[in-house]
Amino acid sequence: MNNSRTFLKTACKPIVLTTLGIPILEACSTDEDSSSGNIDTTNNGVAPREPLIIDISNNTFINLQDVGGWFNYIEENILLVRISEEEIRVFNNSCPHQGNRDRWSYSGGVFECGYHNNTYSDNCTGSLTCYDSTLDINILTIEF
Ligand code: FES
Repeated sequence: MNNSRTFLKTACKPIVLTTLGIPILEACSTDEDSSSGNIDTTNNGVAPREPLIIDISNNTFINLQDVGGWFNYIEENILLVRISEEEIRVFNNSCPHQGNRDRWSYSGGVFECGYHNNTYSDNCTGSLTCYDSTLDINILTIEF
């Protein structure tokens, strides 16, 4: 009896219905990963990202040495902008309009995406996703 219940619980629904004489066409695969059972749904199914630590004294980040400087760090999918001596703000570089990442410009506190020229403030209150960051001299820590 337990084997029958276990079969009914775990078997593909179309196979069970077909066995009972009910014809049905449906794939037996599911989107569920039965091997893990620990899918994180708190971040739209994307695994949480570890903090990123950047030494901005590295030449790659030379644009961030001066207030107003900015950098599209495509490899990490982030935009960085030097707001003050003590602050660098960090944003997801995915455009809120259609998700493009590679045609940004920045001027006067505003990012502009070159695909359709939508603009986004650097004040962390708009639709451009802003991340928490701390700057300790030249070490920038970003929390995602
Ligand atoms: S994709 Fe950025 S403005 Fe359209």
